[in-house]
Amino acid sequence: LRGNNPFNLEQYLKERQQLVEAALADCLVPAPEAPALLLGAIRYSLFAGGKRIRPILCLASFEAIDESREFTEVLPVACALEMIHTYSLIHDDLPSMDNDDFRRGMPTSHRVFGEDMAILAGDALLAEAFALLSRENAPGGVDPSLRLRVVHLVARASGTGGLAGGQVLDLKASEKDMDLPLLEKMHGLKTGALIAASLQVGGLMAGGDERQLAALACYGRKVGLAFQIVDDLLNVEGEGDGARLGKSVGSDARQGKATYPAILGMDESRRLADKLTGEAVQALSIFGEKAIPLRELAYFIIARKY
Ligand code: IPE
Ligand code: IPE
Ligand code: MG
Ligand code: MG
Repeated sequence: LRGNNPFNLEQYLKERQQLVEAALADCLVPAPEAPALLLGAIRYSLFAGGKRIRPILCLASFEAIDESREFTEVLPVACALEMIHTYSLIHDDLPSMDNDDFRRGMPTSHRVFGEDMAILAGDALLAEAFALLSRENAPGGVDPSLRLRVVHLVARASGTGGLAGGQVLDLKASEKDMDLPLLEKMHGLKTGALIAASLQVGGLMAGGDERQLAALACYGRKVGLAFQIVDDLLNVEGEGDGARLGKSVGSDARQGKATYPAILGMDESRRLADKLTGEAVQALSIFGEKAIPLRELAYFIIARKY
């Protein structure tokens, strides 16, 4: 656990967040032709804070398989996940989607740069993420067929059967059609898929075998669903003024969104998130002590207030 013993989650998160921030700054290599306005909009959202939970999960799954290996190759992969996530937030907040004014404690991209630039900043982040995943490597780097598998997994998690598909369900599923199975599918796609992919690609980059990858995918799906259930709960509970959360509270109810609290109630939703977390942690048993960070991250995800 790289010197963090006994495990201290707060310290671990802080260190990993710093590592990811620095790597993101390195990984965002603008093309010489890139318009400054576009870069400004990208940087505004990408460096606005954020928990960096997807890259941190990716690194933790890498470590669950191989504790001793350097992060050099996996860090750009972790950054690509955060870039895709940030793109999804910019678009999620657009007037034609959730129409939100605050994100990561700041006015949303379209409030600052206009809708046109917010759309394009999101587009560019998604494309640059794949440029980063597929970029030419230093000699001795990752095997090309492994890299291709990583690219494919992340693309699939972002596409029709992943984030984009889930957002469609979020926006278009009518109230009368909404039931628990559809809600689970929607959350699994819009949020769970990218989180599950973060775990899988971390494991792949560490050279995990199929059994290990299956365990990480299982953990990822459960934690991913729990993550969105907690996001729904926080949208109801907030933090009083929503300051730490950095986004508006109560917006789901105002917009009549299908959420776990709306369908199951607060207590039942909380219980389900706890149950999923327990199951996720069980899936880690094959990794032994090396999965302590993943286990603690799962508990953080349900206990978080932001
Ligand atoms: C918020 O994600 C949107 C969801 C998919 C639930 P995060 O809670 O990870 O947001 P940041 O990155 O910390 O801002
Ligand atoms: C976010 O879902 C999902 C994605 C951005 C893909 P929400 O719309 O529920 O998340 P917040 O609450 O705005 O962050
Ligand atoms: Mg949304
Ligand atoms: Mg939203």
